[in-house]
Amino acid sequence: MPRWNVFVTRRIPDAGLDLLRNAGVNFEVSPEDRVLTHEELVAGVSGRDGVLCLLTDVVDEPVLEAARGARVFANYAVGYNNVDVVAATKRGIMVTNTPGVLTETTADMAWALIMATARRIVEGDTLVRAGEFHGWGPMMLLGMDVFGGTLGIVGAGRIGCAVARRAQGFGMKVLYTDSAPNPEISSLNAKRVDLDELLRVSDIVTLHVPLLEETHHLIGRRELALMKKSAILVNTSRGPVVDERALVEALKSGSIAGAGLDVYEDEPQLAPGLADCRNTVLTPHTASATIATRNKMAVMAATNLLAALHGEKPPNLVNPEVLTS
Ligand code: DGY
Repeated sequence: MPRWNVFVTRRIPDAGLDLLRNAGVNFEVSPEDRVLTHEELVAGVSGRDGVLCLLTDVVDEPVLEAARGARVFANYAVGYNNVDVVAATKRGIMVTNTPGVLTETTADMAWALIMATARRIVEGDTLVRAGEFHGWGPMMLLGMDVFGGTLGIVGAGRIGCAVARRAQGFGMKVLYTDSAPNPEISSLNAKRVDLDELLRVSDIVTLHVPLLEETHHLIGRRELALMKKSAILVNTSRGPVVDERALVEALKSGSIAGAGLDVYEDEPQLAPGLADCRNTVLTPHTASATIATRNKMAVMAATNLLAALHGEKPPNLVNPEVLTS
């Protein structure tokens, strides 16, 4: 049994590491429970047959060059904007991701942010804990109805569709944008519109696009200005999809009513002023953070890695052209 030499850039659930162990892989998990510096990453990947990496690892040319000869970078995430896939393909390195297993969990989180932002849950929690709840008040913490409202879903992929399914229980009118009509979301009576129309009429706008060149700052000052003053924005996709400084301005000026964010433009930093906006609910990129889902992601990433090491096509290969080039 070959004992491939693999680097795991940070500890992941045992479900994945056990698979590697049982396959006889010689793997090293970074001893640091933090994001590695670029230098540490370069050192960690050199001379390996494969790498199990995270969305927080910037896998760029120098990292891939250091890993020259590796068969695979198995990303522990569905999004793989952290990996320079073109540079990997050029070096014959396979790149894999973990689609599907976090769809429902992420859709749940989008809904948690929708409800918490619309109904001002965090502000209420803070008030109660501060001893400032002096009894029911007719004008206290008035929020926005979710039931019966209009939900705008930007990006009708797996997660966008899962969010739309949940909207059925809330009696909502659902609009969506995507590059082509999507039969799954259309079967839920969702209507495809262009982004400007979606922003103009939705009460809640929720983002479910991957981070690509064309989705960088998809929601900027112009787009925020199109939204209703009473509307809220929810982002569980990738931070740079939103111009965060423009969002802070919109939140401060009242040009939108609130935002529920799980992702940030320059994680873990927040744009200046964002943390002071009371009309926000801010979570630390935890949309997929359930025990069951993180276990499934670990198994999937390890399975992809093992397939590549065995010379097989991994089930979730994002650069299949690497096999023919
Ligand atoms: C992903 O998999 O891309 C998620 O952001 C992880 O939570």
